[in-house]
Amino acid sequence: MPLFTNPQLVNELCVVIADHVRHTVGHVDSVAGLEARGFLFGPQVAIQLGVPFVPIRKKGKLPGATIEASYVKEYGEDRVEIQEGAIKNGDIVFLIDDLLATGGTLRAATDLVVKAGGKVGEAFVLIELAPLNGRSKLPDVNLTTLISYD
Ligand code: PRP
Repeated sequence: MPLFTNPQLVNELCVVIADHVRHTVGHVDSVAGLEARGFLFGPQVAIQLGVPFVPIRKKGKLPGATIEASYVKEYGEDRVEIQEGAIKNGDIVFLIDDLLATGGTLRAATDLVVKAGGKVGEAFVLIELAPLNGRSKLPDVNLTTLISYD
């Protein structure tokens, strides 16, 4: 959160992430961000790329028909959802969140995109907690992490 005391740095970061997407993924149809902190970066990257932002929310928060995927947390199961129609068949989606810990959240988000008919072009997190080995849950995902902590 201290990053947000420096608006210029936040802007530069989102510009750099968008450039990274252009160079590594190429065309994307949307940017999907994970509630809550993926919402801090996702819309800004989507604006840079000129594509829609798709919010992936925790269960029961989105109005209308939704598509959901579940994941296991330390104490039981949780669900994430998107609105039906937010991702179209064949869409290439750039997934963004602040943190990769156990990998359950990004796993569920990836499953959600696929369930909706899309494909994850890349999943991107600012921080990876490497000892938790979250990336082992994402062998099929093109994953980029900005900072990895051992
Ligand atoms: C944190 C973080 C990621 C998720 C990563 O969110 O922002 O979304 O955990 O953990 P995982 O890799 O073990 O799934 P949290 O669930 O705390 O929710 P919040 O952003 O709403 O606080």
